[in-house]
Amino acid sequence: MEQLLSKDLLGIKNLKLDEINFIFDTADKFKEVLQRPIKKVPSLRHMTIANVFFENSTRTKLSFELAQKRLSADVINFSSSMSSVKKGESLLDTINNILVMKVDMIVMRHPDPGAPHFVAKNINKSVINAGDGTHEHPTQALLDCYTIKEKLGEIKNKKIAIIGDISHSRVAISNIYALQKLGAKVMLCGPSTLIPKHISSLNVHIENDIKNALKWCDVANVLRIQLERQGNNNFPSLREYGLYYGINKKLLEKIKKDIIIMHPGPINRGVEISSDVADSKNSLVLDQVENGVAIRMAVMYLLSQKNI
Ligand code: NCD
Repeated sequence: MEQLLSKDLLGIKNLKLDEINFIFDTADKFKEVLQRPIKKVPSLRHMTIANVFFENSTRTKLSFELAQKRLSADVINFSSSMSSVKKGESLLDTINNILVMKVDMIVMRHPDPGAPHFVAKNINKSVINAGDGTHEHPTQALLDCYTIKEKLGEIKNKKIAIIGDISHSRVAISNIYALQKLGAKVMLCGPSTLIPKHISSLNVHIENDIKNALKWCDVANVLRIQLERQGNNNFPSLREYGLYYGINKKLLEKIKKDIIIMHPGPINRGVEISSDVADSKNSLVLDQVENGVAIRMAVMYLLSQKNI
């Protein structure tokens, strides 16, 4: 493969397996660059990239920005809380005003599913979806799968349980698509109120009992309870959720097998995961963050090839 097929990365759903492997191979090279004393290459020195964030972010925004700087791109950052969006400007007007200043690529996070797709259709520059509402978060799924592959050697036939608030999680959806394309078996585990009704059509196992899920899986990808997206009560209290679905050392000891623990962050310690598990030797939480930079360098580098 010489090029990604689309000018944009909007989701994993329409990405081909070859493209995922192409991104992983490219990320390997950038990961090597990141181990050097000078962690920088000139690949994107001709480009200016705008990070346009209409929703909160720590890891994803910093990771994209660092990746851009490691590629020598010029970077501008925009966050909606301080912008003219608050004065009533339309999304497309905002983007076009950014682009006219000779910006070459847009990285965008937005609370509405489909917002980056709408922008991508209306501009001729590359758009990367950094999370659109409850829909997709493609670079998170890529870095999660890359991290699993790095740890286990391969993903094919591995059993991955995605645990927690599936209904409100773009990380879950993107992970399901990516893991299945890479040949993994996927289980979703959580209370029924947090698992979408029709999701079994995606060929995933559904399990409501956390112990059964942990007994089954090689990797547990634990998700945050997305309180900010939950309109009504899906469980009585966070304390009760933690009691039935929280992963702690005692529970893992009962399972009597080594399970790899992942979490996209931000972690609610003591709710979905206890500190002794989040900080244990089986936890890949910080490896995920570290790999995020190489994955995002790879995605932006490969999409920049389409801009030339
Ligand atoms: C996730 C997100 O924002 O979708 N975080 C991230 O990007 N690392 C998950 C979350 O907010 O729980």
